[in-house]
Amino acid sequence: MEEINILGAGLAGLSAAITLAQGGQKCRLISAQSSERAQSVMAEGGINAALDLMGEGDSPELHFEDTMRGGAYLADEEAVRRLTFGAPDTVRWLAGLGVPFNMKDGRLVQRSFGGQKKKRTAYARSSTGKMIMSALIDECRKYECSGLVKRFDHHGFLGLNVREDSCLGLRARDIYSGEVMDFSGRVIMCCGGPAGLFPGLTTGTAANSGYAAARLFEQGVVFGNLEMLQYHPTTVAIPDKRCLVTEAARGEGGRLFIMRNGKRWYFMEEKYPELKNLMPRDVVAREMYFVRKEPDSSGEVMLDMTGLDGLVWRSRLPDLRAELIHYLGIDPAKEPVPVREGIHYFMGGIYTDIAHRTSLRGLYAAGECTCQYHGANRLGGNSMLGAVFGGRTAAEDILCDGDQAADFNGERDSGSVTENEPSDAVKLELGEILYSGLGIVRSAEGLCNALDRLDELEERRGTFPRTRLARAMLLSAMERKESRGAHYREDHPERDEKLGRPTLSRYKNGVIEVSIGEGFE
Ligand code: FUM
Repeated sequence: MEEINILGAGLAGLSAAITLAQGGQKCRLISAQSSERAQSVMAEGGINAALDLMGEGDSPELHFEDTMRGGAYLADEEAVRRLTFGAPDTVRWLAGLGVPFNMKDGRLVQRSFGGQKKKRTAYARSSTGKMIMSALIDECRKYECSGLVKRFDHHGFLGLNVREDSCLGLRARDIYSGEVMDFSGRVIMCCGGPAGLFPGLTTGTAANSGYAAARLFEQGVVFGNLEMLQYHPTTVAIPDKRCLVTEAARGEGGRLFIMRNGKRWYFMEEKYPELKNLMPRDVVAREMYFVRKEPDSSGEVMLDMTGLDGLVWRSRLPDLRAELIHYLGIDPAKEPVPVREGIHYFMGGIYTDIAHRTSLRGLYAAGECTCQYHGANRLGGNSMLGAVFGGRTAAEDILCDGDQAADFNGERDSGSVTENEPSDAVKLELGEILYSGLGIVRSAEGLCNALDRLDELEERRGTFPRTRLARAMLLSAMERKESRGAHYREDHPERDEKLGRPTLSRYKNGVIEVSIGEGFE
C-alpha cells in the first residue's frame, strides 16, 4: 500500500496526517524538528470563522468578502470561498479535539482582528497556536500508536524524487545519524514560509530555513506571488529576530500613535475612521512607515495598551504582557510600547489548485508554503485557518483519489545527498539584499540595485537554490508594475486592474521565468 509523505509537522502537516489516518490511509510525518517546535506554536491571536456567536450577523459570505478585499483581489476566488465557508466546520473540529478556546456562558468568544468588520476570531488567550498544536499533537498520537502515522522527526529535506512531471517521493537525511533515506509515495509539502531567507528580520523561526522551498523551485515546481511579503505592523526587536505583538492587542483596544509637534497623533484613527487601528496589515504598516518620516514627528510609533482593563490582560492577553515584560522590560499595562513593522508572513509560495495539487503530479502543498488563499495581503486570523483547512483538503483529495502506488525503479532525479547551502555569512548578505529590494516601499531602481548585488554575490560565492528563489522574488516584484496589497511601488503607485492575476515563476532549463497570470508554454 502506498504511504503518503508529509513534509512538515506543524498545523498543516498534523491536520493532513490526522485526516489521512481517519480515512485509514497510512502516512509518514517527516520534519526537521518535532511538532512542539514548529513555527505554528508561535501563532498568537486566533483563527477566523464566521460562527456568528457575537450577535453581529456574521456570515461566511462576509468572511469571504473581507478576505478577498483584504488580499486586494489577488487570491484564488474559488479557493477562498471554500476556505471561508469551511471555516466554521474547521473551528468546530478543533474545539471537538479539545482546543481550550476562550468561552463565555458555554460558547466560544470571538474578537476583532484587522481588516474585518465582525468579531470573527476565535482564540485561546494569546497562545492560540500553542493550544491548537497541543490538541493536534495529542490527536495524532492515537494514530501513531495504531501505526497509521509514522513519525520521522529530525529528518532534513534534501529534495523530491521526480520522474518527468511526477513526484514519486522525497529524499531526507536523518540529522543525527546522517543516514539518507528515500521515501516513496505522494508528497504533501507543509514546510511553512521561508523565514530563513531573511535572517533576523522576521517574526518566524530561523528553523524554517527556506531550503525546502528553494529546492522545490530548483526542481521545477511552479510558485506564485513571490513578491507578496507581509509586514506585520507591530513587532519589536529581540536578539536575532522580531517578536510579534499580536494584532489582538489592537483588537482589544490598543491604539497606535506617534508624537507630532509634542502631541500624540492617533494617525490611524484620524485617517481611517471606520476600522481605525484595525485596517488590514499592509495599510497599517505603510502608514507607520510614512508617519515616521513626517518632518515634525518623533520618528517612533508607539502602541498604547494602557487602556485595556485587568480582565483583558488576565484572560485574553496574559502571554503578550509576560513576553513584553520579559524581553523589553516594559509592562504594556502601564506604558506604551515602541513598535515597528517586521516581516511576518509569505503570501506567495507554491502554486496550487483548490484541491492543493501543485504543478507536479503527486505533489501537494498546504499551509504557509502555498499561495492561493491570501492574495496580496493576508488577514490576521486567516493563517491558522488556511493551514488547518489546507492540510485537511489536500488529505481529503488524496483519500478520494485512492491508492496510487507507483513503480519507483525507473530513472529519477533523486536530489542531492547534502543540502546545497551557502555559509551563514552569505545567507545574511542575501537577506540584506532581499530586504533592500522588497521593503514596504519598492521601486524599479531599488529592485535593479538588489538584482545587481545578487549577481555580484553569486559571482563571488556561487549559485545556490536559495539565491535562485531570491532572484525569483525580486523578478516577481519587478514584473508587478502596480501597487497592490503589500506590494507598494512608488514608481507605480496605483492599482492596475489588468494585473489582478498571480505572478507565476519557475526554473526551467537553467532559466528563471516570471509572468503575470499567463502561465508558461
Ligand atoms: O497578530 C497576530 O496575532 C497574528 C496573527 C496572524 O498572523 O494570523
